[in-house]
Amino acid sequence: MATIRLGDVSPNFTAQSTEGIINFHDWLGDGWGILFSHPADYTPVCTTELGTVAKYKAEFDKRNVKVVALSVDGLESHKGWINDINETQNTTVNFPIIADEDRKVSELYDMIHPNADDKLTVRSVFVIGPDKKVKLIITYPASTGRNFDELLRVIDSLQLTAYRKLATPANWKSGEDCVISPSVTNAEIPELFPKGYREIKPYLRMTPQPD
Ligand code: BEZ
Repeated sequence: MATIRLGDVSPNFTAQSTEGIINFHDWLGDGWGILFSHPADYTPVCTTELGTVAKYKAEFDKRNVKVVALSVDGLESHKGWINDINETQNTTVNFPIIADEDRKVSELYDMIHPNADDKLTVRSVFVIGPDKKVKLIITYPASTGRNFDELLRVIDSLQLTAYRKLATPANWKSGEDCVISPSVTNAEIPELFPKGYREIKPYLRMTPQPD
């Protein structure tokens, strides 16, 4: 297993999921993707996480992001647990969950951290861009449920970088001013950022978020 780093092409795989067999790269298509692992089915924190992701579907769709979850539990376990998630979280799970019983994908993506737990996956998140490259990696411990608002925030930032040559400052929230990428010259600014800009320092130039 090689270490996966930002900018690497995401390793491709074929796996069984609750929505049939998935070839990861084919399934991603031309859009963005999130692959995220959880430690185990029928556990409390995971139940709330997967329910939350289901409720955020419109937000992911708006950003052209497909989401796929994974644990090392089997397909029948996933299917039974989905009923519980739907019931207790008042939603309908609307994304596939990979059944990685042989840990093929978990090992490919280094999702099992033996000094945390030698059998179960940690809470990994990989955001993949349309070029299939890894744009973000986050790892949480089993006991901490992830903040999916933060994930949407980062995706907004990644997309501003990919499509608009913008970066985002500390604690940025969608709608706030963005940072003009250092690669953009002042001469290019009027065409790229018609809302104008403020030059605080030559290396620190802010512009309103584009529409
Ligand atoms: C949970 O999802 O609640 C959980 C899973 C493994 C360890 C601790 C919590």
